[in-house]
Amino acid sequence: MEKSVKIRVPATSANCGPGFDCLGVACTMYNELALTLKKEPGVEVQIEGEGAGNIPTDERNLAWRSIQMFLRRVKASDTYRGAFIRMKNGVPLSRGLGSSAAAIVGALKAANVALGNPYDRRGLLQIATDLEGHPDNVAPAIYGGFTVSLVQDGIPESFSFLPRIALKLVVAIPDFPLSTKAARDALPVNVPMKDAVFNVGRAAMLVGALAKGNEMFLRHAFEDVLHQPYRAKLIPGMYDVFDAARESGALGVAMSGAGPCIMAYATERAEIVGDAMVEAFRRHEVEARAVVLGVEERGAYIVKE
Ligand code: HSE
Repeated sequence: MEKSVKIRVPATSANCGPGFDCLGVACTMYNELALTLKKEPGVEVQIEGEGAGNIPTDERNLAWRSIQMFLRRVKASDTYRGAFIRMKNGVPLSRGLGSSAAAIVGALKAANVALGNPYDRRGLLQIATDLEGHPDNVAPAIYGGFTVSLVQDGIPESFSFLPRIALKLVVAIPDFPLSTKAARDALPVNVPMKDAVFNVGRAAMLVGALAKGNEMFLRHAFEDVLHQPYRAKLIPGMYDVFDAARESGALGVAMSGAGPCIMAYATERAEIVGDAMVEAFRRHEVEARAVVLGVEERGAYIVKE
């Protein structure tokens, strides 16, 4: 009988405000993916939870496409030509919580374990970034914690660190999806130098303050002018939700990834912050729910082999 591998992979939030395409954080919300590689051709995909009924279960399935790329890279695509994949999804789709990164990383990690770990995490980061297009969601899904990433000549580099502040990640999840493509299409090709300077300072201060545990310097560190102002039109009431989060006690607040989720960063009063964000969305006729998450320290890990 073929070996089955089960992986748990965290949701992720990219950008964290100023760190467009380079910062990310793993959250305590998960997908599980169980993989059985098969020698016979054909894929069977079963999905429970988020995306069931919407995610393709045939050859187009992203987890399966990721596994196929992995198999080609390790030259095992002639040996394993099919798979049985079971997904139990807790990460909502197209909301800015890294559902595609979770599918890609869960699938790659499962295939890697099934074949005796030919790649380390850096190797998986390369394949995952090739599939996703940028590393800011896949890196925290692989490493856990907060991650800082860049791509040099097509090669991603990421490191992960844990904040020295007990941060709660308060996420307001609106009831509408937003495609990353639409959110990226809203961005300008060029930005003013003063906006670049604004973000560089804040991204640097955010990483430093989190790593050192200096809460005082987080006050302006989640602000951004490189992407959020251009995307605000896609999320009704976004800046009112930001204000509601700050006024009710959040340290900072930002779009989660390409949205439409809004993530507030808090050390206390997390539920109150979440309620205020949901209420602010409601004033703009957007139904939303709030969840309070923590920073997940682990990247994708084996649940059962
Ligand atoms: N950094 C990406 C963006 C995250 O904001 O478009 C979503 O994939």
